[in-house]
Amino acid sequence: MSSQTPISAQQLHDVAAAAMVHAYAPYSDFRVGAALVATDGTVFSGCNVENSSYPVGTCAERGALAAAVVAGHRSFTQLAIVTDAEEPTSPCGMCRQALVEFAPNLQVTSYTTSGAEACWSLADLLPHPFTPQSLHLT
Ligand code: THU
Repeated sequence: MSSQTPISAQQLHDVAAAAMVHAYAPYSDFRVGAALVATDGTVFSGCNVENSSYPVGTCAERGALAAAVVAGHRSFTQLAIVTDAEEPTSPCGMCRQALVEFAPNLQVTSYTTSGAEACWSLADLLPHPFTPQSLHLT
C-alpha cells in the first residue's frame, strides 16, 4: 500500500490487524500482525507463519521486513504490531536485530485487540546494537 499523504496511526493499526487475521499459528495460538512503513510512505504487512518444525517459524515483523526489502525498500520509519495478548507485545530480540539493520530510528507501536497500546523507539528496545558499521571497526 502506497500513499501520497502520511498514513495515520489508525490506518497503520488497521493494516497490522488485517495481517494478523492471516497469521498461521496452530502451535502457539499466538497470532501477530505487523505493518512497516517505508521512508516513502509505502506500507508492508506481515504475519507470523509457524511450522511443524518449530524453529522454522517466522515472526510477523520479519515477514513485513522481507516483503519490503524484496520490493526494493531499505529504510523505514514506523512499525505497528497487533496481537490479542493481554498486554502490548514488543518485537522479539531476533526481530529487533533484523529491524535495526534498516531502521535504527524506527518507532514501534504495539496494540492489543482489546484496545491497549504501547510505543517505543527501536533504539530503546535494542541499545548498543550490532550494526553494519560494527563490521567496519578497525
Ligand atoms: N512472534 C511474532 O510474530 N513476533 C514477535 O515479535 C514475537 C513472537 C510470533 C512467533 C510465534 O509464531 C508466536 O509469536 C509465539 O512466539
